[in-house]
Amino acid sequence: MSFTFTWYGHATLGLETGGQHILVDPFFTGNPAASTTHDKVPADFILVSHGHGDHVGDAVEIAKRTGALVISNAEIAGWMSAKGVKAHGQHIGGGHQHPFGYLKLTFALHGSALPDGSNGGNPAGFLITLPSGEKIYMAQDTGLFGDMKLIGDEGIHLAVLPIGDNYTMGPDDALRAVELLRPKHVIPIHYNTFGLIAQDPQAWAARVRAQTSAVVHVMKPGESLAF
Ligand code: NI
Ligand code: MN
Repeated sequence: MSFTFTWYGHATLGLETGGQHILVDPFFTGNPAASTTHDKVPADFILVSHGHGDHVGDAVEIAKRTGALVISNAEIAGWMSAKGVKAHGQHIGGGHQHPFGYLKLTFALHGSALPDGSNGGNPAGFLITLPSGEKIYMAQDTGLFGDMKLIGDEGIHLAVLPIGDNYTMGPDDALRAVELLRPKHVIPIHYNTFGLIAQDPQAWAARVRAQTSAVVHVMKPGESLAF
């Protein structure tokens, strides 16, 4: 089975597979890089990696409009449930078979306080195994960690990695992440949303091409790629 990947800008991602729409970290309102608005995006499932405002974003509004199931760590899932949204809680290392594939929450080296100061549990990344067996790793906000090698050992088709620096991995560590993960394809995210995370993605892509065998796709917000 194939899938389509959309970058909406910042760390906001869309996956379409088997007729299901999976929306990741849906930050549209207040996102200077957003390619569209929260009232226009399709969603059957919404994945929230951690509690920060640029990741929780418009998740509640979109879930209420679409009836999508929000999937996150148990603390954020509980916070979503209290707002009247359908939610499913998991924790790092735990996987669950959802209609779109098997989703495992992975370690992330970051913070996770929710916008209202509530405890957002631990931040996570996402590893999805599609019914075809293809694996997609979306690191979301994280610093570099050595266990990316273990994630890479699973055989990654597509890795989505932050390169913005300051809050997450910068270009140097993201390059080391590609070396550990050994994905077939890699897409950089979480850069150029605002000045503090300004980066040159083409310069990073050139380094990845020179030093690894990964195929790099530098996307524009709103662009989709079919895999
Ligand atoms: Ni964050
Ligand atoms: Mn972020």
